[in-house]
Amino acid sequence: MDLKKVERVYSNYASFYDHIFGKVFHEGRESAVRNLNVPPGERILEVGVGTGLSLPLYPAHCRVTGIDLSSGMLDKARERAAAQRLSHVELHQMDAGNMKFQDDSFDTVVAAYVVTAVPDYRKVMAEMIRVCRTGGRIILLNHFSNGNKLIAAVEKAISPLCKHIGFRTDLSLNHVLEGTSLQVAKKEMVNPLRFWHLVECVNQKNGPKNGSHPSSH
Ligand SMILES: C[S@@+](CC[C@H](N)C(=O)[O-])C[C@H]1O[C@@H](n2cnc3c(N)ncnc32)[C@H](O)[C@@H]1O
Repeated sequence: MDLKKVERVYSNYASFYDHIFGKVFHEGRESAVRNLNVPPGERILEVGVGTGLSLPLYPAHCRVTGIDLSSGMLDKARERAAAQRLSHVELHQMDAGNMKFQDDSFDTVVAAYVVTAVPDYRKVMAEMIRVCRTGGRIILLNHFSNGNKLIAAVEKAISPLCKHIGFRTDLSLNHVLEGTSLQVAKKEMVNPLRFWHLVECVNQKNGPKNGSHPSSH
């Protein structure tokens, strides 16, 4: 999918997104923010913030910047931030693969259910790394395909269909990290069936690059 289609698909979702993807995926969002133990003054960027379901979870002593491509999703996030008086939150419409922020602008960058929803995850990863300071944290909350051959075959088979509705199922964590210097510091499984990964990476910009893993997708 290209950027225009992603924008359209998610803006069409906006009015019912929370009913379908709210509660069922909320444990993952809560764990992601809880694990951050957000220190005062932390500059946090959430890419693909969507309708802002995670925004009320951040403590008021940090600064949260949320971006999303979809104006429809962002409108919902803005309504939520206003209704809950989240004055430590600011929201912008922006492509996560081409951000307007300067290098090293944030201490922590969070992508919750996003890397499999973007047209070009490599561009988005590169941008997340660029705008996060060296030694900062990059948090990935997502379903990644794993080594189970049967599940991987099903994921691959349904991926073309899923692409039309806004996400892919056949991407592995190894593929996402390949060629980056991100160092995995913590990994846990979350949400129903423990099918989703919550991964904390340290942004070692000049560290050794992760290699490719030919056995996984
Ligand atoms: C599955 S939703 C996740 C929303 C939210 N993070 C959550 O926890 O529910 C994926 C979001 O990524 C956004 N998105 C997709 N591609 C994007 C891009 N290139 N730049 C910014 N946001 C993007 C979509 O508009 C959508 O809001």
